[in-house]
Amino acid sequence: MKKHIAVIPGDGIGPEITTEAIKVLDAVAHAYGHEFHYTYADMGAIAIDKTGNPLPEATLKASLESDAVLFGAIGDPKYDNNPNAKVRPEQGLLAIRKALGLYCNIRPVKTFDALLHQSPLKEERVQGTDFVMYRELTGGIYFGEKKLSEDKNTASDLCQYTRAEIERIAHKAFAAARKRRNILTLVDKANVLESSRLWRRVVTELHEKNYADVKLEFLFVDNAAMQMILAPNQFDVLLTSNLFGDIISDEGSVIGGSIGLLPSAAVGDKHALFEPIHGSFPQGAGKGIANPIAMILSAAMMLTHFDMDQEAAAVATAVDLALATGVCTPEVFPENNYSTSDVGDFIAKNIA
Ligand code: IPM
Ligand code: MN
Repeated sequence: MKKHIAVIPGDGIGPEITTEAIKVLDAVAHAYGHEFHYTYADMGAIAIDKTGNPLPEATLKASLESDAVLFGAIGDPKYDNNPNAKVRPEQGLLAIRKALGLYCNIRPVKTFDALLHQSPLKEERVQGTDFVMYRELTGGIYFGEKKLSEDKNTASDLCQYTRAEIERIAHKAFAAARKRRNILTLVDKANVLESSRLWRRVVTELHEKNYADVKLEFLFVDNAAMQMILAPNQFDVLLTSNLFGDIISDEGSVIGGSIGLLPSAAVGDKHALFEPIHGSFPQGAGKGIANPIAMILSAAMMLTHFDMDQEAAAVATAVDLALATGVCTPEVFPENNYSTSDVGDFIAKNIA
């Protein structure tokens, strides 16, 4: 198969981990007879520095014309602590999600047996954790009307959802549950928020009409945050709105012991983007200590999106082998001294 991939390395450690993911994709192309064509583009702080725009036209064009976008990381400390900054790197990511219609963010949380001892939680609690979060990504409070009063002393962000926005991601989440353990948990704050009550109504109706075979459960987001610590292995598919999903996916990402291991996908009806869950880790940039596995597994999710299931499985197997044999960066195996590129080399070499 021939695929056109827009590659956006981004900021901080983004470029280093992207190099490793491309290494692995090239190994897959070689082993399975595919042709991957890459178009490189800028987004985030690097794009602001070069063009003044966090999402330059050329990047958007390359992304719209691609079969998929592979994206590294975004963010730079020089913007983080400046509430008055007019342009921010993150605006690039939010704009590309909106422009490509990537309303469905899929974030799997899976523990690796070889790393259970790394978890901040007790091993017996995290063992067997394997759930996936479906986070709405182009609506809610992230994109609602923002207001700041003239005297700058009052501010608000509107959290608005429509039935259509809820239905389209709920369809995807129910379908995912059917292919897994058949349980969908809607995470909301329906005891307080009108928008959450709309989510409950719409999801319940859809369940009765189309997905009655799936077990549907409800959890308030505060309780969900607690349950994810107490017994993360109870969940199968979690469905939630944009902001709640942002927060609980960071919580979920460390259950397995390193935030450097978890990939994600953002999909819509026409386009798809794949990126690790972690940020740009600016303190680690250029040191060869960034864990490329989340990025490599994001590339594997892209392969699944291309219907290359065998290829994706080959990447996952090579990653498992790396972790089982101690080939990972210092935050996972401090004693072993493997660099970002060592890990990428090992995984690429082990693509069957
Ligand atoms: C994420 C990030 C983004 C978000 C930021 C960088 C805008 O935290 O992908 O989770 O809040 O969605
Ligand atoms: Mn986040």
